[in-house]
Amino acid sequence: MNIDVFTLFPHWFEWFRGQRHVANALALGHALECVDPRATTPLGAGQVDDTPFGGGAGMVLRVDVMEAALRARYGDDPVAVRSRRRVIALTPGGRQLDDALASELAAEPGLTLLCGRYEGFDERIVERFCTDEVSIGRYVLAGGELAAMVVCDTVLRKLPGALGHADSALEESFSPALEGAPEYPHYTRPADWRGWTVPEILLSGHHEKIRLWRLEQSRRRAGGT
Ligand code: ADE
Repeated sequence: MNIDVFTLFPHWFEWFRGQRHVANALALGHALECVDPRATTPLGAGQVDDTPFGGGAGMVLRVDVMEAALRARYGDDPVAVRSRRRVIALTPGGRQLDDALASELAAEPGLTLLCGRYEGFDERIVERFCTDEVSIGRYVLAGGELAAMVVCDTVLRKLPGALGHADSALEESFSPALEGAPEYPHYTRPADWRGWTVPEILLSGHHEKIRLWRLEQSRRRAGGT
């Protein structure tokens, strides 16, 4: 998988690239690259945004600037690019990210993530250049960068080999293996700490009983039985 993040703050992602599962994914041949629209802006003095028509606070990312950046990256009209790759605008009002969407995105060969700043994007960027709008929750961030990192984090950890343990991403919170429910509780040594003991069943070595107990715990956390 190759992920391109269009951001005015590419250096923010240097830290992110060093996180273990991200570094693992990159070592396996996946790519996470940043593209700075300021580098290809057709406007003077590195301008990328402008005041909103109709008035109002804040600045809006310009459509001509994003077109230039996408063209420079893909050598094609961005309107055509979106027919061959998922181009995602990070917006507070987009489709809410969940485990199913993360799995869907992890199955793509390539993703383009567009980070808005200030008041966000000129709507024509979203309408004409993007296939999706994704939100990481119903609150407003100062920009799309943290949201892009959240998307990359959950998508990259689903790629085979990114996590140390092959099974870790299979049976985890909200996965189909747990019927979409939160994960069951975990315990480790010591088995008794200040009289706070670990559920007996987990020490029993009885794999099938443990599996059923975990499933029941998971269902209970989902508000079921
Ligand atoms: N940009 C600003 N707020 C956001 C959010 N909640 N999700 C995705 N992108 C955003």
